[in-house]
Amino acid sequence: MCGIVGYAGASSSVADHGALDVLIEGLRRLEYRGYDSAGVAVVADGAIHSRKKAGKLVNLENVIAEEPLPQSYTGIGHTRWATHGGPSDSNAHPHLADGGKLAMIHNGIIENFAGIKAQLVSEGAEFLSDTDTEVAAELLGKMYGEANGDLTLAMQLAVKHLEGAFTLLAVHQDHPGLVVAARRNSPLVLGLGDGENFLGSDVSGFIDFTRRAVELGQDQIVTITPDTHTITDFDGNPAEGKEFTVDWDAASAEKGGFPSFMEKEIFDQPAAVADTLLGRSDADGRLTLDELRIDAEELTKISKIVVLACGTSAYAGSVAKYAIESWCRIPVEVELSHEFRYREPIVDENTLIVSISQSGETMDTLMAVRYAKEQGAKTMSICNTNGSTIPRESDAVLYTHAGPEIAVASTKAFLAQITATYLLGLYLAQLRGNLFQGQIKDILADLGKIPSKIQDILDRSDEIKELARSMADASSVLFLGRHVGYPVAMEGALKLKEIAYIHAEGFAAGELKHGPIALIDDGQPVFVVVPSPRGRDSLHSKVVSNIQEVRARGAKTLVIAEDGDDSVKDFSEWVFYVPETPTLLMPLLATVPLQIFACELASAKGFDVDQPRNLAKSVTVE
Ligand code: F6R
Repeated sequence: MCGIVGYAGASSSVADHGALDVLIEGLRRLEYRGYDSAGVAVVADGAIHSRKKAGKLVNLENVIAEEPLPQSYTGIGHTRWATHGGPSDSNAHPHLADGGKLAMIHNGIIENFAGIKAQLVSEGAEFLSDTDTEVAAELLGKMYGEANGDLTLAMQLAVKHLEGAFTLLAVHQDHPGLVVAARRNSPLVLGLGDGENFLGSDVSGFIDFTRRAVELGQDQIVTITPDTHTITDFDGNPAEGKEFTVDWDAASAEKGGFPSFMEKEIFDQPAAVADTLLGRSDADGRLTLDELRIDAEELTKISKIVVLACGTSAYAGSVAKYAIESWCRIPVEVELSHEFRYREPIVDENTLIVSISQSGETMDTLMAVRYAKEQGAKTMSICNTNGSTIPRESDAVLYTHAGPEIAVASTKAFLAQITATYLLGLYLAQLRGNLFQGQIKDILADLGKIPSKIQDILDRSDEIKELARSMADASSVLFLGRHVGYPVAMEGALKLKEIAYIHAEGFAAGELKHGPIALIDDGQPVFVVVPSPRGRDSLHSKVVSNIQEVRARGAKTLVIAEDGDDSVKDFSEWVFYVPETPTLLMPLLATVPLQIFACELASAKGFDVDQPRNLAKSVTVE
């Protein structure tokens, strides 16, 4: 939530970038994190100059066009997802303090802001917004006086008073060429340039300018100038960051001729799956997961796996449960991170926690992982974002290589996450001897065929798009699935809710007669994900019976079935065939038509599919 950019450059630097260009470009890339309002502040001519505006970034750009900013090489920029105070011009960041000499931006929630505000008000401070950020800015202004004009020291003094989650960036008119940042429980990455340095909520905030990045730790302060960066803890003791090179470039974060990032990312899926599989097994099918920092011996002792995730990532976990339990015979529980954290879950040193997070910053998941670690569990992160917090704090990491996912609704990260969980399941089966090497090799060979099968579906996307356009007026759509088709149904419903704002529900097909069938009325659209007829026969025939049951009650049945499955034709208004694949791998194919359907239907309704209302890509507050 909220995107943050900071820049310290100089006219003499090799690149000679103006601060405003860097900030606007960074905010454009980070806008997926929040788009309620945007703002920038630059230091020029011994003063702070700030512009901010409610609404999307384009509104801010219009304001700047009407009221240009002076040339500057130092600045901060923010794109907001509102927490304290509604989305308005006055609540937009930056917030000014110290009589307008200091500007601050913030991502997170300062939990004790009310007490600090009351104290500052009693000392004569006045506030123009409803935000917790302005309180932090005013506090920093006060500390700036106590620190005798040392902005970094002032930040150290200020953060000692703050509780909650925050990434704070500040500039001061007396310090051109200097940006100070502090982070606790909120994301921040440093970018290293030639005569210029950058800060961003994630690397996309500066990917247009450099691919050299530094992971920052918890409770750290970083000060950048054009030629230096200094990292300390909150007490001012020197600290280190971990440098890495971003393995994608700015072009990967462009729409590449597609009308939306979401559609582009749906079409990126063959590559996302192929890249996630790449280099992780040898010719004999022996898996090596090199980012695993847990002893093989310890992994053989695992008695339970708990998958922690939210939203789409949790559905990837639900798919993993079927595969890992089948291949490894280890019980797998899948739990929403926020539910896990606030009951008293039973985990111990023989529990493997597998967190799944595209962003690696989801606060609910981060907190759940920390809690599990405290209980002695081993933690592994499946993550798509290098340099993010959850993998950094986990005992082991398995990166998905989906590339940057910009659209708020997750698509390619989902398929890459499922692929990574399969690799994990096969690796554990190999270690524990649950499968013969030949069986693992066969499953890997089937996985290797998935990218071209996804491509086959994408090549026939017009069939799905036509259906979607014809259903633009639907007010409710139901999704049914069984076994691994159940999480696929849930994901299909979530996609439709979040980007098309249509009421959508996913159900386990077997649950139908226990209640949901009462929803079926004349013309009610129902998607049914049908398992392969080549798999367990009972599974297939049960779902075919479910199609007949809803159809008999007037439903319009829309079926996703496997190539050659003629049994569904007589009971379906519409059928889309996906290529044959083993049942456990089927979600990698059956999900794709549902993603295309949601994307096209939302586009037909004229909605912005990349930035749906009320949402933000990275949920960094609890
Ligand atoms: C839905 C979606 C969300 C995320 C969820 C977890 O399309 O994107 O449901 O899956 O917020 O996010 P990550 O994976 O970043 O932890």
